[in-house]
Amino acid sequence: MSQQQEQWKSKIGFIFAAAGSAIGLGAIWKFPYVAGTGGGGAFFLVFLLFTLLLGWPLLIGEFTVGRKGQTDAISTYRKLAPNTNWAIIGKIGVFTNFLLLSFYSVVGGWIVLYLVEALTGRLSGLSQEAYGQRFGEVISNPTSTLLAQLIFILLTVIVVAQGVQKGIEKASKIMMPALFILFVILVIRSLTLDGAMEGVKFILVPDFTKLSSETISFALGQAFFTLSIGASVMVTYASYLPKTQNLPKSALSIIVMNIAIALLAGLAIFPGVFAFGLEPNAGPVLIFTVLPVVFDQLPFGFFFLISFLILFLFAALTSAFSMIEIIVATLTKNDQKKRKKYTWIIGLLIFIVGVPSCLSYGVMADYKIFDRIFFDLIDYLVSNILLPLGALLISIFISYKVPKNELFEEIRQGSSIGKVAFALWLFIIKYITPIAIIVVFLDAIGLLDW
Ligand code: PHE
Repeated sequence: MSQQQEQWKSKIGFIFAAAGSAIGLGAIWKFPYVAGTGGGGAFFLVFLLFTLLLGWPLLIGEFTVGRKGQTDAISTYRKLAPNTNWAIIGKIGVFTNFLLLSFYSVVGGWIVLYLVEALTGRLSGLSQEAYGQRFGEVISNPTSTLLAQLIFILLTVIVVAQGVQKGIEKASKIMMPALFILFVILVIRSLTLDGAMEGVKFILVPDFTKLSSETISFALGQAFFTLSIGASVMVTYASYLPKTQNLPKSALSIIVMNIAIALLAGLAIFPGVFAFGLEPNAGPVLIFTVLPVVFDQLPFGFFFLISFLILFLFAALTSAFSMIEIIVATLTKNDQKKRKKYTWIIGLLIFIVGVPSCLSYGVMADYKIFDRIFFDLIDYLVSNILLPLGALLISIFISYKVPKNELFEEIRQGSSIGKVAFALWLFIIKYITPIAIIVVFLDAIGLLDW
């Protein structure tokens, strides 16, 4: 098995791939809408705290476990804690990624459809209401949305069947900086709209009266979701790492890029929302109904809109690659001969499981479970339950199952982290992370009475 373990070609290549996994729909599509629903600035602040205080140490933790294991997610836990049941973390990870991609690909499909709409000239010069209406029509059409979802999954399968390292490293190096630059242009346009300041205040100035147990739980889920934490994705990606990589520093650069993109997405969208008199709590459709209006106000808006959608699609794809990669790596045990076949079969299964999520914005809109449409239910299960659960188990695993000196040895390779910083990191992983996750969870399900 590990004789065939591939490796990233360069240090920066790994950072781009891991950042590619992290930066995706989470920062660009989900962050603005959960922040919009969850009260804006206060949500952003809590999200920021969770990202830095829990996300960074956990990301370092997943990297350390992954690089130490040098194999797929399930085998890693087995290898580091032989004769125990801890491989369950890897199994939960595989299951989480499976469910995650089943609804992630729905939104990926929306981007594909919007790209077609834009290319055929149907996404410019409309009024805001018309954009909202148009998007509603687009996502409620069962045939085209299913087809688009399938296309998104096919694109993912085609790349991952070749092996992640080949395509992703190269493409990410160009597309990620391009996405960043385009966002900056968008933000400048948004900020110069009449009434833009309202939107800036909304996302940057915290109003704590808007915080509730539910928003805090969403902020935690969002922090894990955007960093791809809790599903052993980063464990898998780090297993392809040489010992020379600086893990804490790599983790930090991913955190910073991720926060920057989420912030840019917020600053591109909310000024528009307020300037055009839209509602910040529009939900999953937010970005798709606001951005075309902003693009309309830009010179060469058509060109920018198309470029944006391509980069947005790319960002979503690089995250999707990582989800399917962990499933493939685990099932094939890194046997390259099996890779192609398994990737195709898994892709097909994910598509089938994703059908109800796709249709829940159209013909199945009235089927609700726990008061949520299917799409929201799966999203909730993944983001608010499975990812925090995975993160909780990983932190317990690191604290009690990997000998302290071995952890220190592993982290130190490639970095110059000292004893004090290491002790602080371990303290957070051992005490702060589990307590925070449990408290937020109990609070969200109403078991804590403050
Ligand atoms: N981080 C990805 C995003 O923000 C989603 C993701 C979560 C990917 C968990 C892999 C694992 O889009």
